[in-house]
Amino acid sequence: MTKIINKLKWDSDFFGFKIGSFSGLDYDNAEKFLKEFYDNKFDCVYVFVDPNDFNAIDIAAKNNFFLADIQMTYEFHSRPQKIKNAFLESLAYEILDVSSEDHKIKIRMLARELSSVSRFSFDPRFKNLSSKMYEIWADNIMRDKDGVTILAIDANKKIVGFIGSTLKQNIGNVGLVWVSEAFRGRGIGAEMSDQIVSLLFDKGAEKITVKTQLRNNFANRLYQKVGFRLKEAKLIYHFWR
Ligand SMILES: CC(C)(COP(=O)(O)OP(=O)(O)OC[C@H]1O[C@@H](n2cnc3c(N)ncnc32)[C@H](O)[C@@H]1OP(=O)(O)O)[C@@H](O)C(=O)NCCC(=O)NCCS
Repeated sequence: MTKIINKLKWDSDFFGFKIGSFSGLDYDNAEKFLKEFYDNKFDCVYVFVDPNDFNAIDIAAKNNFFLADIQMTYEFHSRPQKIKNAFLESLAYEILDVSSEDHKIKIRMLARELSSVSRFSFDPRFKNLSSKMYEIWADNIMRDKDGVTILAIDANKKIVGFIGSTLKQNIGNVGLVWVSEAFRGRGIGAEMSDQIVSLLFDKGAEKITVKTQLRNNFANRLYQKVGFRLKEAKLIYHFWR
């Protein structure tokens, strides 16, 4: 019989649990899903559900699935309109020099902090490794030879913001974005997003995607402000044994 749960090797090895993913939950396959879950000794399956799919939501509620995240996926198809102001022009924006170990160490550290907004930090059984996962993710982004990472630097040569992206098969993906707390709400996030979108289009991207969590108001506002449009919202449940 064909399997409906997709085993996730990287996640299983990293977290030390047998982890899978599944989308398409409904009344016809719920029993099959649960049987396969227990027969194959999964510890956790990420179940992706459309927010309008009341049947799947009902099954999830009745079986105590843990709602870990409402994931918002945005897409960008055209170039941004530039917003400029004197404050933004007082900062320097640099493309990360991958040979600069100092900058890479700082970004790894910031990525660890950023993990606090992730669905893994909201699940007590993943929480401990969430920051490590974000550090690895930051490293993968910085290592991507087609993607780009931009830094915002203040007059004291301090990194006050960064944004990182990858580019694969003409699809750009913005992975991580961060602005130092004291500098938020002044347009640095938007400026860096504009710059990265333009660079990705220059490098041949046909579309650019970014994912965030519904609970992250500032990130949702940022992406909408610079011209990303909501493509999809998904409920992500963690179903544990
Ligand atoms: C998301 C983030 C990068 C935005 O950076 P930013 O430089 O503040 O962005 P902008 O100034 O362009 O503003 C974007 C939105 O942030 C919100 N914002 C406004 N004032 C703010 C403040 N004092 N502090 C935080 N956010 C503020 C606003 O909603 C703003 O939209 P608006 O201008 O239409 O009102 C920043 O808040 C951040 O680093 N957050 C923590 C990390 C994070 O959540 N990253 C995204 C997931 S990886």
